[in-house]
Amino acid sequence: MSFKKSLWILTGSLLGLLAFDFKYTDPPWEVKLPSNLPKPVYSLNDNPITEKGFLLGKKLFYDGNLSSNGIVSCGFCHQQPSAFTQHGHDVSHGVNDRLGKRNSLAISNVIWQKTFFWDGGVNHLDFVPLNALENPVEMDETLENVLRKLNQSEKYRIAFREAFQVEEIQSAQFLSALSQFMATLISANSRYDKYVRNEGGQLSGQELSGLAIFKQKCSTCHATDLFTDGSYRNNGISNDFRYDKGREEITLNVNDRGKFKVPSLRNIEYTDPYMHNGSFYTLEEVLDHYTDGVKDSETLDPVLKQNAKLGITLNEQEKKDIVAFLKTLTDHEFLRDKRFSEY
Ligand code: HEC
Ligand code: HEC
Repeated sequence: MSFKKSLWILTGSLLGLLAFDFKYTDPPWEVKLPSNLPKPVYSLNDNPITEKGFLLGKKLFYDGNLSSNGIVSCGFCHQQPSAFTQHGHDVSHGVNDRLGKRNSLAISNVIWQKTFFWDGGVNHLDFVPLNALENPVEMDETLENVLRKLNQSEKYRIAFREAFQVEEIQSAQFLSALSQFMATLISANSRYDKYVRNEGGQLSGQELSGLAIFKQKCSTCHATDLFTDGSYRNNGISNDFRYDKGREEITLNVNDRGKFKVPSLRNIEYTDPYMHNGSFYTLEEVLDHYTDGVKDSETLDPVLKQNAKLGITLNEQEKKDIVAFLKTLTDHEFLRDKRFSEY
C-alpha cells in the first residue's frame, strides 16, 4: 500500500472516531420488501431490525478495529459504490495486502440467500462475519479478541446496551448487529425493477431485446428477479481445479468439483472484475466466454453443452443487446444511498 493511501485511510479512521456519536434522531429502521422478489429466507422475526441495531451494525461494518492491523474493515473489501465488492481487485486484498484466492462478492439482498460464499461454505447470514474475521488473508483476528476490544470501548458498551440491553458484549449481539445492517442492503430499484413493477421505468428497444435473449439463454441459472437460482454450477471458466475446487471443498463430493455459486447479476455494471477468480474485466469478455471460451470438464453444466456443442450461441448484436440489458440492473439509488455509506 502506498504512503498516500495509508495516510488517507488514517485520516478516514480519525474522522470516523470523531463522528462516533450514537444519536438516534431518524425514524426507526424499516425493511421494505420489493414486490418482484420472493419471500426472504432470513427470519427477520428472530433478529428484528431496530434503528439502534442497524446503526451499530453499520459502525461495526466500517470499523477497521475488527481486524488485526486496525485498517481492514468489512467495508474495505465491500465498497458501496461498487455494490459492496472490492473494486479493481481480481482476488481480495486483506490485512497487510495479503491476497485471498477469490474475488470479493457483492453484499445485497442477502436475506434471500440460503447459502453464502462462492462455495456455499456458510449457510446462515449471522455466521458469515466469522469467516472474514478469522481468515489470515482477510481480517486476521479472532472473535474472542474482537469482543475483548469492543468490551474495552465505553462507546460500544453503551451502544450495545441501548440496542440489545446487555452489559457485556457477546458474540450473539455482535453478529446480530452486523446482520441487521447487511439485511437492509436491499437493491431493487434499478430501471429494470421499475419497469417490471410498472413504476415508470422504461427500457429501450435494444434493452428489451437483450432481456428477451437473456430469458432464453441465461435465466436457467440466473433465475428470477434475484438473477440466481441459488445453485452451484460449473460454467466452464476452467478445467483445472487444483487451486480451487469450489463447492467440492465444502461437500467433499467430486461431482461438485469446479462448481461455484451462480451469482446475482444485480449492479453487475459496477462489480467487475467478474467470476470467482476475477478473471474477466468487462461484460463483453464474459459474453465472449459464454460463446467461445467455455472449457469442457466432467462437471461442466449440461446447459452449456447441448447437442455436443460447448457454450451458448449468440451473435455480436445479441451480445450487445444483452450487455445493454444487464446495465439496466444498475440500482443507482442503492449505490448512493447515504443510509449505507460510512459517513
Ligand atoms: C479481505 C477482504 C474481505 C474482508 C475484510 C471482508 N470480506 Fe466479505 N468477502 C470477501 C470475499 C473474497 C468473499 C467471497 C469469499 C468466498 O466466496 O470464498 C466475501 C464474501 C462475503 C459475503 C457473502 C456474500 C454472498 O453472496 O455469498 C458476505 C455477506 C460478506 N463477505 C460479509 C462480510 C462482513 C460482514 C465482513 C466484516 C466482518 C467482511 N465480509 C469482510 C472479502 C472480504
Ligand atoms: C449453466 C448456468 C449458467 C448459465 C446458462 C449462465 N450463467 Fe452466468 N454464471 C454462472 C455461474 C456458475 C457463474 C459463476 C462462475 C464462477 O465464478 O466460477 C456465472 C457468472 C456470471 C457472471 C459474473 C458475475 C460476477 O459477479 O462475477 C456474469 C456477468 C454472467 N454469469 C452472465 C451470464 C449471461 C449474460 C448468461 C447468458 C448469456 C449467463 N451468465 C449464463 C452460471 C450460468
